Amino acid sequence: MALLANKVAAVTGGVTGIGRAIVLEYLRQGAKVAVNHLGDSASEQHFNTLAEQVKAAGTSGDNLIAVAGDISKPETATRLVRETVERFGRLDVFVSNAGVCKFADFLELDADLWQFTLNTNLGGAFYAVQAAARQMASQGDGGSIIGISSISALVGGGQQVHYTPTKAGVLSLMQSSACALGKYNIRCNALLPGTIKTQLNEEDLADPQKRAYTESRIPLGRTGEPADLAGPAVFLASDLSRYVNGAQLLVDGGLFVNLQ
Ligand SMILES: NC(=O)c1ccc[n+]([C@@H]2O[C@H](COP(=O)([O-])OP(=O)(O)OC[C@H]3O[C@@H](n4cnc5c(N)ncnc54)[C@H](O)[C@@H]3O)[C@@H](O)[C@H]2O)c1
Repeated sequence: MALLANKVAAVTGGVTGIGRAIVLEYLRQGAKVAVNHLGDSASEQHFNTLAEQVKAAGTSGDNLIAVAGDISKPETATRLVRETVERFGRLDVFVSNAGVCKFADFLELDADLWQFTLNTNLGGAFYAVQAAARQMASQGDGGSIIGISSISALVGGGQQVHYTPTKAGVLSLMQSSACALGKYNIRCNALLPGTIKTQLNEEDLADPQKRAYTESRIPLGRTGEPADLAGPAVFLASDLSRYVNGAQLLVDGGLFVNLQ
């Protein structure tokens, strides 16, 4: 039996990387999925290839819609939820995944990059989680909200002084949301990826020395693939995790415990 049969999900920033892997697995597990993307030509193209991949896998294209828009603007989150409900009738699962991470030297960091990263990663997550929660609360039968944080929420990163606070913020947002929304049976949990091969860090991982150093610190001996996040995201979305609320689930091959 598919783990997400009869569930409706929305995923922000879901046409590339980790979000895309989650969308594909949710569809495979029987969910209907609304996927948000930025709306630029690259994202449109990524959505088209995603839709083709879904068809090629034999899943009905009717179970997937795109909702374009910049998630750092509150109205995008509201529209994403509205269009999801207009098309699929309800919302059961929400994944706040969209994020940006540009490496930068602390002393060179400017206010624009700080604001951009904060508005996208934390502002976007707040608007999205609130819009999803309002819909789920109005339905009256609960839901699951997942925030994609990072193990960098728990450790420092010298080139990421503007990024790690946003991911610590997402973790905290999910914990406080878990407290606020439990009375509606809306569960809020955070996934904390380690080093996952996506466009976010492809430049870094293309350097053989940096890659070897990174892998040497991961007990499982390899960097993660986006699909490594899909199973944990299905677990948190499904009724298998019905009593899991306010949790932080590290998906990092053991990297974090090895840093202790
Ligand atoms: N790759 C890693 O090692 C890693 C580690 C920890 C956490 N993460 C987190 O995982 C999430 C997904 O990242 P990824 O690694 O798959 O990289 P990615 O770049 O493939 O995915 C991020 C997606 O978010 C979209 N996006 C960015 N700004 C947006 C906006 N304003 N509105 C809508 N969409 C927007 C991007 O276009 C992209 O599709 C991010 O939140 C990232 O911080 C990634």
